[in-house]
Amino acid sequence: MSSIFILGIESSCDETAAAVVRSGEQMVSNVVASQIATHQPYGGVVPELASREHLRAIVPVVRQALAEAGKTFETIDAVAVTQGPGLAGALLVGISYAKALAFALEKPLIAVNHLEGHIHAVLLEERQKGNRELQFPVLALVVSGGHTHLYLAEQTGESWSYENIGHTRDDAAGEAFDKVAKLLGLGYPGGPVVDRLSKYGDPRAVNFPPSQIKHPDRRTLKRYPTLVAKNATKSGATERGGSDSRPKFDFSYSGIKTAVLRYVETQNMAAAIDSRRRALAAITKPKLEDYLANCDKQALDLVASFQRAMVGDLVSKTLLAAREYDIATLLVTGGVAANAELRETFERESAEQGLPVFFPSRPLSTDNAAMIAAAAYPKFVARQFAPMDFSAEVGMVLK
Ligand code: KG4
Ligand code: ZN
Repeated sequence: MSSIFILGIESSCDETAAAVVRSGEQMVSNVVASQIATHQPYGGVVPELASREHLRAIVPVVRQALAEAGKTFETIDAVAVTQGPGLAGALLVGISYAKALAFALEKPLIAVNHLEGHIHAVLLEERQKGNRELQFPVLALVVSGGHTHLYLAEQTGESWSYENIGHTRDDAAGEAFDKVAKLLGLGYPGGPVVDRLSKYGDPRAVNFPPSQIKHPDRRTLKRYPTLVAKNATKSGATERGGSDSRPKFDFSYSGIKTAVLRYVETQNMAAAIDSRRRALAAITKPKLEDYLANCDKQALDLVASFQRAMVGDLVSKTLLAAREYDIATLLVTGGVAANAELRETFERESAEQGLPVFFPSRPLSTDNAAMIAAAAYPKFVARQFAPMDFSAEVGMVLK
């Protein structure tokens, strides 16, 4: 097949993004308009504001992506857009625009699951580097602000399918980073700040016990009723059942968030947090020096200890799953995959296990549209086009 140029559009959360990718293997352009400044005063994403910002940004962002790729509306081969999961209003902006484009241009329209996009961000960049030999079985950890999922990824011909073998029971890992940062007066989004500050604290200062998952997930119970009896007295991450069940590797991050809150209370950190919050709010774009100038040793130690505990849990559960499923290739992707300590720890511990691990570059770890255009390519080849009446799927499941 000759070169296929797909225009990808992503608007599921707080980034309006468009990109052109050639045949799922070369990122020709990648434009991301971040809404961080809009949501920062609220300490998190405000859905109504997100939709409004997407409406404002989508036309110029798409135009810029085409211009940077040296393409026009007429010379692209298909339009791909995120269908879900995400915020309803935000998704609808991208979907409506993509539909209008595809209809007017008489080009195929492709609907993409955002989580599949994160997985294909890694595959796109590996192909771009010339690495086309992917060894199966493949395990993918998708770890972001809204998701913490482990998927077994399979490829049959050009088509991909996924089996979820673990997910968070409560908060996503990125959500925990964001909530803890907010709690400590460090602003939004929390992940990048915690990442940078952690280097300056002692990660052994505060001991956070590993998360305990006491009960089998309700969804697991529905699918595998025999597991209820077998696991009634069992706790821990690995749940084994009868012949129809597969081990699950679930996560839980609301406990650590509460543990940080307790620590803040017992150590009387409220006044220091309050003055930090006010000082940082007065700076338009705080730099690392500004954060450091407003953090005492106690705060830095707490941040570093929190990050160490998060990284330890994500890495140990993922590598346990990799051993259990005899995995040949590990992919780690999503916003939290940008975290330096997470990358270093995965690289070190996967190497000890003799397991190759791949991450996206930092710009492709967080939300972008190149990943959507890349994930759309196999669907283009298989002619899996979306009907014009498809809609947003807020809780879309990856299968
Ligand atoms: O993938 P993403 O851009 O959006 C979602 O699909 O959710 O991920 C955003 C999340 C936020 O929670 C943000 O705090 C986190 O990724 N994040 C990080 C880092 N950069 C972004 N978490 C830890 N360390 C980072 N360097
Ligand atoms: Zn994402």
